[in-house]
Amino acid sequence: MSKANLYSYESFVSEYYDYLPPVAGRQDLDFYLDVARTQGDPILELGCGTGRVLLPVAQAGHRITGLDLSESMLARCRAKLENGPAQVRERVQLAHGDMTDFDLGETFRLITIHFRPFQHLLAVEQQLGCLRCAHHHLAPGGKLLVDFFQTDARRMHDPVFTKESSPYPEVMLPDGRKLRLTERVAAFHRAEQCNDVELIYNVTHPDGRSERLVFAFTVRYFFRFEVEHLLARCGFRVVELFGNYDRSPLRDDSPEMIFIAEKQGS
Ligand SMILES: C[S@@+](CC[C@H](N)C(=O)[O-])C[C@H]1O[C@@H](n2cnc3c(N)ncnc32)[C@H](O)[C@@H]1O
Repeated sequence: MSKANLYSYESFVSEYYDYLPPVAGRQDLDFYLDVARTQGDPILELGCGTGRVLLPVAQAGHRITGLDLSESMLARCRAKLENGPAQVRERVQLAHGDMTDFDLGETFRLITIHFRPFQHLLAVEQQLGCLRCAHHHLAPGGKLLVDFFQTDARRMHDPVFTKESSPYPEVMLPDGRKLRLTERVAAFHRAEQCNDVELIYNVTHPDGRSERLVFAFTVRYFFRFEVEHLLARCGFRVVELFGNYDRSPLRDDSPEMIFIAEKQGS
């Protein structure tokens, strides 16, 4: 299943990713920097994408490896690294790979999976594969940080979400293109615990030409105790659980579920 999602990430997505309002407007960076400072190096980020978080973590002085399945997302990250200071570049390793099955031949103090890569893993075997690989790559006492959106029950069935809507403002890209992101749920699959989703990139070029690019993918939704059980099956103990990046506890209306889990055993 991750292959289908990879297809989409290989296309126009990497080009626009950093400018998308739900990406550019995320308030998670201070939280991740704080966890990196507390837990220490080296760090492995699974699904690092364009380096939105990886690069600031490296700029803060940490040694970090980023792994991603998408060559084009990694190419964006690499280009940003090459245009930045050499000291930062020296602290970063990038690897092309699948987070459900990888072997980097080293261990880390902290492994992070942020802004939903884990929710691209549709099958339980993929989820277990990822957590087992993470366990294998953690040093004793190492920690795993993984985030999810807290599932909104209405988004599991309500036809209102199948209508294309635009909760985001239009943004201007540095080259003068304008981007308006709209979204819809294309299909609900409650028995499989996932939705087919479309993110629609409405692009207006400086010459007035317009384009409509559709990023269609399937997102797996999770529940709190399901995640706790998955982590326990793979040798982790949850040590912290937050409902948002301000470290507030998980509540009914929390937008996020952010787990920090400690490796148990060897
Ligand atoms: C929403 S982006 C998040 C990127 C980055 N972590 C951030 O915070 O901006 C999801 C990323 O997960 C990657 N991804 C999806 N499935 C993956 C897999 N099986 N193995 C590695 N990376 C994967 C995608 O290529 C994409 O770069």
